[in-house]
Amino acid sequence: MSGILAGTAMCVFDAYGTLFDFNSAVARHRDAIGPKADALADLWRLKQIQYTWLRNSMGVYAPFWQVTGEALDHCLAAHGIADPAVREKLMDAYLALDPFPEVPAMLDRLQQAGVRRAILSNGNPGMLDPMVAASGLADHFEAVLSVDQVGVYKVAPEVYRLVEARCGVTPDKVCFLSSNCWDAHGAAHFGFRTVWVNRAGAADDNLPGAPVAQLRDLSQLPSLLGVS
Ligand code: LAC
Repeated sequence: MSGILAGTAMCVFDAYGTLFDFNSAVARHRDAIGPKADALADLWRLKQIQYTWLRNSMGVYAPFWQVTGEALDHCLAAHGIADPAVREKLMDAYLALDPFPEVPAMLDRLQQAGVRRAILSNGNPGMLDPMVAASGLADHFEAVLSVDQVGVYKVAPEVYRLVEARCGVTPDKVCFLSSNCWDAHGAAHFGFRTVWVNRAGAADDNLPGAPVAQLRDLSQLPSLLGVS
């Protein structure tokens, strides 16, 4: 599999779950949340993403920050957690999520090899920019692209079109990386060379679009690109 993505001009990364660990928000406040912390984390992510798909279907866009808060409110109610301080702590933590451990070294390697790097995320700039800044990785990305610019969520093709429109790289020269299987399929169907970063070891989804490779984390990406 080594080098199968040689010739890639730009790597475009999904943010939440791919570069940044959304579970780090709940992990940081486990004591304040109590025994339902893990169940809350799982339901929060599920509802957050479901709401984006449902809003796409309804044609009613709202920024991801709002959607993330609305999803959290549902989950807190579902788990009978009524303390407003917990909500505030979790939303604040979302602005400074931890990058996954292998991410900084992987980005350094791509930089040394001259591979361009960008983020393409459902997040709106008001939440993406502080998180990327807090991680100390901002200099690694020539663009932090947000669906907010087109007012529709992944997997609408308008979102993936932002890469060529903003960075001038054609889809066949882009390697798109996402830990979200549905996003990987959407991006592959659009025309990106796509890698599913299957951190959870999950079963594949049966959707249009075929990712060209699967990785367990991003440490093996330089090898796939032929720049290890
Ligand atoms: C994102 C979500 C889907 O960053 O993880 O776009």
